[in-house]
Amino acid sequence: MQTVYGIKAHGGKLVNLEDFSEATRQAAEQLPSLTINNWNISDLELIGIGGFSPLTGFMTSDDYHSVVNTMHLKSGVIWSVPITLGVSQKDADQIELNSEIALKGADGTIYGTMVVEDKFVPDKQLEAQNVYKTTDEAHPGVKRLYENGDVYLGGAIKLLQKPDHGAFSDYYMEPTETRKMFHDLGWQRIVGFQTRNPIHRAHEYIQKLALENVDGLFLNPLVGETKADDIPADVRMDSYKAILKNYYPEERVRLVIYPAAMRYAGPKEAILHAIVRKNYGCTDFIVGRDHAGVGDYYGTYEAQELISSVEEEMGMHFFKFDNSFYCKKCGSMGTQKTCPHGEEDHISLSGTKVRQMLADGIVPPKEVSRPEVAQVLIDGLKRKREQEV
Ligand code: ADX
Repeated sequence: MQTVYGIKAHGGKLVNLEDFSEATRQAAEQLPSLTINNWNISDLELIGIGGFSPLTGFMTSDDYHSVVNTMHLKSGVIWSVPITLGVSQKDADQIELNSEIALKGADGTIYGTMVVEDKFVPDKQLEAQNVYKTTDEAHPGVKRLYENGDVYLGGAIKLLQKPDHGAFSDYYMEPTETRKMFHDLGWQRIVGFQTRNPIHRAHEYIQKLALENVDGLFLNPLVGETKADDIPADVRMDSYKAILKNYYPEERVRLVIYPAAMRYAGPKEAILHAIVRKNYGCTDFIVGRDHAGVGDYYGTYEAQELISSVEEEMGMHFFKFDNSFYCKKCGSMGTQKTCPHGEEDHISLSGTKVRQMLADGIVPPKEVSRPEVAQVLIDGLKRKREQEV
């Protein structure tokens, strides 16, 4: 048995469902197969490596309904976002209940296997309303939910092959590995940070405020699928590498990718994000303004409110931060709680505005973005445009 260091995994036990043996792979080749998309593959991977502990497979109907209606698994453990495998009715009809199938990517690689314990038709409108708080298909998470297959397959999985993380491979770690790393570093209190954006000064400010109180900062940018107008993951990662070099104490920070897809589920996703970081070994987690939000679907502090209501149950501590900005009069970063000046003295650009400036080759002000970061972003986006031509 491998030693599991640090905080207890969510639900009590860190799951690991990896089986990379040649014999298993060969056996899987003989199974009926189902082609799944990249989103499903990232979920499969997270279940397999234990990031989604205590899940051991795609949700069966009892867990699914329990999560949608009560925000808890059937076992009573808190869980906020269903992890499902949607397939077409036609595919579902061809799969026998309790049979084992191979889960293939579009490239033909078998990433895993699954015992199909359940097939059920979800009420997607209800799922959208309860998880995303809207049934509007303009919401990117809801849109994807509606596009997902109409029948959900539930059942235990095995992870036979991890997806290739390419340029990010050097920044890939599994929960067992991050836990050992924190142990070896002597960190007891570790704060996790989720992000899907390039780092800016407000991020840096809240990360460092948290870091003042704990042993280490676990920067965990999401690199799975995001909506098309988000900055590409490689450019975001470069922004982190650039800032870490010059502005963070090396011995107190670790950068590791989070290979999941973004759901934009706001408050409910904040809980999912925290659960996963607990599984990676974090004792603390940062929730700032409009965490995992998109458009105007969620209130600025709604994620903080939800997380506060379940903090004890989550078994973690949360750092909650107000909207942060640079104040010209203070000559520093601050929030409404620490700065007495009016909005006219504050510099805080929205992510959308910064993206627009970068696209136009305009360097965002140093009060918003460190110059090294701004340069990386401008170069990165230029490179992307050239690749597209
Ligand atoms: S998210 O979708 O991953 O939440 P983002 O990468 O922008 O988006 O945010 C990462 C974390 O920083 C979240 O906890 C978010 O609430 C927080 N955050 C982002 N910008 C600010 C800001 N200006 N003030 C306070 N918190 C912020």
